[in-house]
Amino acid sequence: MPDGLKPHGSNVIVRPARAVRGVVRIPGDKSISHRYAMLAAIAGDTSRFHNFSEARDCFSTLHCLCELGCDWGRAEDGTIEVHGVGPRLRTPTEPLDCGNSGSTMRMLSGILAGQPFSSELRGDESLSRRPMARIMTPLSEMGAKISSREGGRPPLKILGGPLKPIHYRPEVASAQVKSCVLFAGLFAAGETVVEEPMRTRDHGEIALRAFGAGVERAGNASRIVGGQRLRAIEAHVPGDLSSAAFFLCAAALFPGSQITLPGILMNPTRARLLDILVQMGLKISVAHLEEHHGELVGTIEARGAEWKGAVIAGADTAALIDEIPVLAAVAPYTDGGLEVRDAKELRVKESDRIAAVAANLRKMGAEVEERPDGMRIPGGQHLHGAELDSFGDHRIAMAFAVAALRAEGETTICDADAAGVSYPAFFEELRTVSSC
Ligand code: S3P
Repeated sequence: MPDGLKPHGSNVIVRPARAVRGVVRIPGDKSISHRYAMLAAIAGDTSRFHNFSEARDCFSTLHCLCELGCDWGRAEDGTIEVHGVGPRLRTPTEPLDCGNSGSTMRMLSGILAGQPFSSELRGDESLSRRPMARIMTPLSEMGAKISSREGGRPPLKILGGPLKPIHYRPEVASAQVKSCVLFAGLFAAGETVVEEPMRTRDHGEIALRAFGAGVERAGNASRIVGGQRLRAIEAHVPGDLSSAAFFLCAAALFPGSQITLPGILMNPTRARLLDILVQMGLKISVAHLEEHHGELVGTIEARGAEWKGAVIAGADTAALIDEIPVLAAVAPYTDGGLEVRDAKELRVKESDRIAAVAANLRKMGAEVEERPDGMRIPGGQHLHGAELDSFGDHRIAMAFAVAALRAEGETTICDADAAGVSYPAFFEELRTVSSC
């Protein structure tokens, strides 16, 4: 293996690079893959997904669906086939293991709330610390009996059944909560409405429509009428823009970089990242725009030029929530630094991402101001290589592999295998495009 990145058990060593160049084929979007798999399970007939996400999280979803009586398999060409069983799933005999995946637990709960049996959802240590009251409240209001460990933490026990429609106004802007309630709405007698405080990604609505359900959107409210039958689909999952973010930020670090990312998700509720990167100085063009089952897809070409600072706050924070770790990890190299506000949610992701980013940046010699709901990272800093922790969090592992490309000396990312939760081939791809 060339010098750039060397695996060592679950540790990966990253050496400084001089540029990032090449073409990366990013695996299918994780958010869309989860939703497609879940909806395929409750549709009749077999659905087929090309470029389905390689994320461990999405396989957690498929394994849970299997426990619920829905078989799936991988065809020779890599297509994932999900053999839907219709709206009534099979009573599971074991607790459903959601692994590290909050999306699996929160969104599948919406479907389980409508099933006339009791089920239990568990997760790993990180998922067992994450807040579930945000889905327990609406699902209980709809009539499901749902209990958890103290403080609304997993495991969850759900006794489902016929549901009542609700008009729900979540306190937190969360696409997982919105999808959970809309999925439960499929099993409710009447119209369920989710009115969100801020616009969040709309893959739930788009996927429901792709499977043949009517979903309306007006202002910040999404509406679904219960009792609609879903029909199987064959679809191509667009490349994950949140995974692409690591390569875009890597390109932004070096003025001579040039990267091409074909077939990437361009959904406007996710593409705020491109606006911010352009504002920060990355040269981006998008070609071959197409629509696949309601989702926009395009090829991104990016060239490193300047690298300026930015402020991320309010609706931008919600829109960029998964990309903030990598933007923060490379912020010390910007001219003006980065300020992140209104990001309390980052504290309850797979790790406390504000604390994790601050700890790793400090180990690399950077100055960081950590705040309860954000951080301020001055620009114009020089970082050195260090031994860093992934904190068991995929996005932290990948974010700091990118930051390490411009540090002085070697960096070790410990427990780098965490990256597989969303992007198993990440380190290999980064190695092929970064030149020393
Ligand atoms: C996701 C929504 C976001 C995001 C997560 C995936 C989704 O979480 O952080 O990685 O697929 O809906 P929240 O819904 O908690 O904001």
